[in-house]
Amino acid sequence: IVFPDAAAAVRSAAERIARIVAESVAARGKAVLGLATGATPEKVYDDLAARVRAGTLSFRDVTTYNLDEYYPIQPVDPRSYRSYMQRFLFDRVDLAPNRAHVLDGTVPEAATAAHAAEFDRWIDADGGLDLQLLGIGRNGHIGFNEPSELAVEAFASQPTRVVGLHPITKTDAIREFGSLEAVIPRALTMGVRQILAARTILMLATGPHKAPIVARALKGPLTANVPASLLRTVADKVVWLVDEPAAAEL
Ligand code: GLP
Repeated sequence: IVFPDAAAAVRSAAERIARIVAESVAARGKAVLGLATGATPEKVYDDLAARVRAGTLSFRDVTTYNLDEYYPIQPVDPRSYRSYMQRFLFDRVDLAPNRAHVLDGTVPEAATAAHAAEFDRWIDADGGLDLQLLGIGRNGHIGFNEPSELAVEAFASQPTRVVGLHPITKTDAIREFGSLEAVIPRALTMGVRQILAARTILMLATGPHKAPIVARALKGPLTANVPASLLRTVADKVVWLVDEPAAAEL
């Protein structure tokens, strides 16, 4: 869906999230949301927080799992995705603190695989994700699933794990870290398996800098080298919410 501007795309994302929360809570007593960070969803969280203040939305029966976190990083570090989520959403809504899951950037190196596997088990035990909100990196990454040489099938079954960041991702992270040298070069990320298993996937992409990668993901080859192109393998449950500048090369 192409919207005239970013504000309209953001509003549609927030409306859809609010509707999925209501429908999932009505159907099974809870809603399980996969959430994203980055500049793009900040205003989605503003909108959701405003709905909670207005009394038209509640996170009382919601559980959340975030896509990714830098590694290693302290949760209180202002650049961590844990503090981003506290700032933009968790501290502003009625979500139970023990139901707001962000991968833990403080687990010891030797325990990362077990932590990542536990994260996937928790999501599975919660019945999977009702919704995954996604943004797209300029290299096509989803979460921190970076471009890969793997075959599509192998990439599609990747679990939650530690990854190294791609050069384009590190360049874009200068916004948060101040300089390239300061960027934490590794991260924990939810795997493509869990993302593609979500019952609804909302991809939000806005701004002219996203136009080339939006076109490659939707119209270029289906390849792990453009991680977001794998969304085409589950197209019937994916909605792309794009503003006109990001849709310019479609
Ligand atoms: C970040 C995050 C992704 C996010 C993407 C786009 O590095 N790991 O989950 O979707 O890059 O970010 P932005 O919205 O700032 O363009």
